[in-house]
Amino acid sequence: MAPDRYFPPLLIDNPVRRLLSPPGRLVSKYVEEGEAVADIGCGPGYYTLAMAEAVGEGGKVYAADPDPRAIEALERKLGDRRGVVEARAASAADLGFIPDRSVDFVLANGMICCMTEHSAALREIRRIMKPSGSAYISVSKMFRRRDPRGVGREEWEQTLAGFSVLERGDGLATRWAHVALITLT
Ligand SMILES: C[S@@+](CC[C@H](N)C(=O)[O-])C[C@H]1O[C@@H](n2cnc3c(N)ncnc32)[C@H](O)[C@@H]1O
Repeated sequence: MAPDRYFPPLLIDNPVRRLLSPPGRLVSKYVEEGEAVADIGCGPGYYTLAMAEAVGEGGKVYAADPDPRAIEALERKLGDRRGVVEARAASAADLGFIPDRSVDFVLANGMICCMTEHSAALREIRRIMKPSGSAYISVSKMFRRRDPRGVGREEWEQTLAGFSVLERGDGLATRWAHVALITLT
């Protein structure tokens, strides 16, 4: 099995990315004050800190990444948001520290395509979402054909079929979707 793909923290959180794609732009679209949210595959906290700002002191941010360097880098930046953010070195395939149906919004940005256990990660995302919750999932289109971590077009469509799609997009380098749980009426 291919190992999880990790990145140096500076590659994920740096001034150029902040300039071109400020984290608050995405977060302000989906996160409200007082909510419980989760940043899965959080890296060094590029979005986690903006999520903590958005939920405020009455909210909660769960952050998970199996790369201990990323979690250490995130923890160094937390400052007075320490009470709001619960960060763990954990795989998306096992988010046992996040209770069932507890989260209003899950961010899984560029994460699923860095691991092989896609179904387990998607199962965990669905498990932690409140019935009224939503998730933003994105995957890179840039991967070698035989890389089992990559998510191709067909698998992406199958992934979205497991949710109710609220909005989706296809960029040069990524595919993304804002999704909700499928409710049986
Ligand atoms: C492309 S980076 C994106 C980081 C962050 N979501 C962002 O947008 O800034 C992918 C992240 O997925 C993490 N990752 C790799 N395998 C993972 C797994 N099994 N579970 C959760 N995260 C994982 C990596 O450590 C890395 O931080």
